[in-house]
Amino acid sequence: MTVPVITVDGPGGAGKGTLSYSLARELGWHMLDSGALYRVTALAALRSATEISDELAVARIARSLKLSFIPAAEGLTQVLLDGEDISAAIRTESCGAAASKVAAMGEVRAALLERQRQMAIAPGLVADGRDMGTVVFPAAPLKIFLTASAEARAERRYLQLMEKGESVTLARLLETIEERDSRDRNRVESPLVPADDALVIDSTGISASAVLDTVLREARNRQ
Ligand code: C5P
Repeated sequence: MTVPVITVDGPGGAGKGTLSYSLARELGWHMLDSGALYRVTALAALRSATEISDELAVARIARSLKLSFIPAAEGLTQVLLDGEDISAAIRTESCGAAASKVAAMGEVRAALLERQRQMAIAPGLVADGRDMGTVVFPAAPLKIFLTASAEARAERRYLQLMEKGESVTLARLLETIEERDSRDRNRVESPLVPADDALVIDSTGISASAVLDTVLREARNRQ
């Protein structure tokens, strides 16, 4: 039996995590936070003093990660690396920036591909990332590409980081978001682009619940 998959791709801060979590909860499906895989890989490389630009060494680390994912509230997945809870450590802006660097490497992406596909378990999977619909699950029957203006995404991230007590300015955040977007969109390996058959939703000025309703309607229409 083919396990149904809904892919949710788009740039950082567009609300993919919140949408994916709510969708998975409504449908009773599993959720894959693929960004967490790139973040953990970056964290493990930094901790092991591996040069972040050493593609083969970073790919080796990606292949050997001993990970567990535990779904948590509001789209945030609790991530355990060798049993240690590293959820907070991977959610910093500096880890996000390092993740986007290792994510541009073909060997690293190849090392994480099978791990992601193995997460498609019945009754279904909501897969959140950048290349879920284009590369990892190209046969998914429903593909969402969720976007929003860079300003709206920076504001959303700003509020999330303030809540966690991380000190950043909105201007600096906008700069890093644009830098990360540009790297994700312009890389050779799995660039951030909507799949040809994706439903593109611009969430600028739209509530998370309105976005969820739209996607749930699409999902139910296609069942
Ligand atoms: O989504 P999140 O911000 O956690 O992802 C961190 C980084 O991991 C992104 O900036 C992107 O470079 C990379 N990523 C990716 N492919 C995915 C998910 C994330 O390249 N499927």
